[in-house]
Order: sequence, then C-alpha cells, then structure tokens
Amino acid sequence: MSAAFDRQRAFDQQRTFDQQRMFDQLWESLLPVGRDEQTGGYRRLAWTAADIACREWFVAAAEARDLTVETDGNANLWAWWGEPGPGSVAVGSHLDSVPDGGAFDGPLGVVSAFAALDVLRDRGVRPRRPLAVVAFADEEGGRFGVACVGSRLMTGALDPDRARELADADGITLAAAMADAGHDPGRLGRDDDRLGRLAAYVELHVEQGRGLADLDRPVGVGTGIWPHGRYRCTFEGRADHAGTTRLEDRADPMLTYAETVLAARKRARLAGARATFGRVHVEPNATNAIPSRVVGWLDLRAADEPGLEQLLADVRRGAQERAARDGTTVEVAVESQSPAVVFDAQLRDRMAGLLDAPTLATQAGHDAGVLATDVPTGMLFVRNRTGVSHSPLEHADPADCHAGVLALATVLEAELAVVPGNGGAG
Ligand code: GLV
Ligand code: MN
Ligand code: MN
Repeated sequence: MSAAFDRQRAFDQQRTFDQQRMFDQLWESLLPVGRDEQTGGYRRLAWTAADIACREWFVAAAEARDLTVETDGNANLWAWWGEPGPGSVAVGSHLDSVPDGGAFDGPLGVVSAFAALDVLRDRGVRPRRPLAVVAFADEEGGRFGVACVGSRLMTGALDPDRARELADADGITLAAAMADAGHDPGRLGRDDDRLGRLAAYVELHVEQGRGLADLDRPVGVGTGIWPHGRYRCTFEGRADHAGTTRLEDRADPMLTYAETVLAARKRARLAGARATFGRVHVEPNATNAIPSRVVGWLDLRAADEPGLEQLLADVRRGAQERAARDGTTVEVAVESQSPAVVFDAQLRDRMAGLLDAPTLATQAGHDAGVLATDVPTGMLFVRNRTGVSHSPLEHADPADCHAGVLALATVLEAELAVVPGNGGAG
C-alpha cells in the first residue's frame, strides 16, 4: 500500500471523526434543556420555558452556521442555507416533547439536519437549490392536546380559530401562551407561499419501534404512517361515600372507564391495532369518594382507515353498553384524527436506492405525515435497539446517530444537486 494511500485514509478518518464530533457537540449542547433531574425525562411542552429555550438553541445553532433564521406565521422555525425560493428542500423535525419524553424523539432530527448541513459544507457541496433546516412547533400536543399543531396550521389541517382556543390543564389558551412568548397568534393559518416554495421535506427520526433492530440495520426509509386519532372520553356518574354506599347503589364512572380500558385493549388486540388510555382526569379525585366524573384520553391506531373507524365504533358502543349497566353516561369526542399517510414514492425509492436501506412503515405520527398532503415528503429512521419511546429510556446508539447523519447528508447532497424544475427533488 502506498504512502499516499495511507495519508488519504488517515485524512478521511480524521474528517469522519471531525464530522461526528460536530454532531456530538451540538447534541450535547441541547441535552440539558428541559431535562427533569428526578426522572431523567424531558418536559419540553409547547411554549413552556424549556420549549422556548430549545427554540433559542435552534436560533443560536443556525446563527453559528450563518444561516438566515425566520419564524413563520405558525411559529415554526426555519434556518436557510441560500435564499428562500421555489424548489427548496426542507429537513428537520421538532424540539418539543411529551411529558417525561426521551431525548431523541424530535431533537435527533433537528440536530442531524444541522450536522448533515455541516457534512455537506465540509465536503464542499454547492447546493443548486435552497436548503432549510426546520423545527416545527408543538408536534407532540403534550400541553394543548392536538398533535402537529405547527405543521397542521401550515397546511390548513387545523383551523386557526380552533387552535387559538385550545387550552392546557390550567385553562391557559394556546393563543395566550404564544402571545406571552412574543408570537402573534393572529398570524396562524395556512401558508400557501411557504408550501409553494417546498419541493421536498425530509424528516429523520429515531425509530419508535424495533423494526430496524429486528432487521439489524442502523437506518431505514419510511414508507408511510398508520392512521390514528385521539379521543376524549367523558364518563359521568354520581359522587358518593366510598364506605357507606352499597355497591349496587353506585353510579361509578371509574368502573365504566376501567371496563372500557380493558375492552379497548382486547378489541385492538383482536384487530391487530393499538389502543391506549395514557391520560386520565378524575373528579373529585379523593381516595374515599366515588368519582363524579372521569375523563380518559384514548389513542387509537390501525393499519388502515376502515380498521380505525371500526375500532372506534366498537370501543364507543362497548363503553355505552357498559355505561347503561353501571348507571353512568359516556361521551366520546374526537380531538384529532390523522389519515393514513403514504410517503412520496419517488423520494422514498431515491433514498432507499442511495442508502441501500430497508423500508418500513410506522405507527407514530410526524410532521412529515401532515405535510405529505401538500409537499413530497420522506422519512429516515435511526435504529432504537429497545424500541422504547415517549419515555426517559428512549435511546439510539451514538454510532447509529452518526450513521443517520451521513445517510441524511447523502440524501440531501443528491437532492440539492438537482436544479429546480429538472426532476429529482420534486
Ligand atoms: C407522536 O409522537 C405520536 O405518534 O403520538
Ligand atoms: Mn413523539
Ligand atoms: Mn417525534
């Protein structure tokens, strides 16, 4: 082997090492923000101090790279490499979390987007079209109940009047929380100009299941998202004494709720679907009182839309039948519903071909799924060995994160090489 070959190999290794270090530094700079010391989980709920600190982190990361930062009318953050214009490629994810969420869900996509841009610059790439790194606002809906608020407002899938009136557990409206943070809620609404500029949106995300772990592959390409919905189930009965009230004299909504939880799980199992009650509110919430009211939030996901509708109808009917037996009532209200998503087939095939990566669908919701109605979108997933997500235990190995950055850089380099209007990226 020649000395020149050895020198080149050492140079390449050093460059890879430097690129990995750029990701690591950026990742570590975000890690402390919104982390709860007790649980180790993240509480970056929309428009809280932690979320605002994440947004400031985004601006700092963009400015450190001489990118032009803008906040759109729906409070999504954009950092531009090149002049915003037609044929743009966007790449990113979200920074907010569920209560006590993991570090990776969302932030991995934003950090990887900046890191991929660093790799492209390091490679001397001169993009033929503008690139934007984006952080969508309030993806998880962990505070105001509706998921993907920033992207849904952008496409018009969420009515701005409804969004402004969404309220958190303390009755603070989304409009008030935004205004407090300096964003004018009067600017919310479909953003035709911005959508018209985008030729493609690529979102990298930690995988939230074990698909890639089972395949023993670090990176995969998304094919689509299961349809899913969030439903608020209100069970009402009669508050009474826990000791003196005979069991047969009770109208206990907790009983109807509990039976509904078990029945939903069984119906989902039989249908090959998913049903979860992950949030519950009880009134008056006293150990020695039969509750008057129980509100449970139901999350349903199924492989197709008829399956989702059927599951919802079955759970609702079962809850009503049970309520009639318990002397209680139940109301089921739709909080948000997301149709089945199939990602852009051309973009998916280009990515899978370039990366020689497996393809897989997901049961988790994403901004890429929302944008898919208006823009060709695609997703890359990074292996999560345990599959655990929406939990402090969520994890991706550093080597897999680095592989994700390189995969994203490879995809972006190819997409950015195409002159707008000449095929490729839309
Ligand atoms: C978002 O993470 C969801 O799938 O609920
Ligand atoms: Mn999530
Ligand atoms: Mn996410």
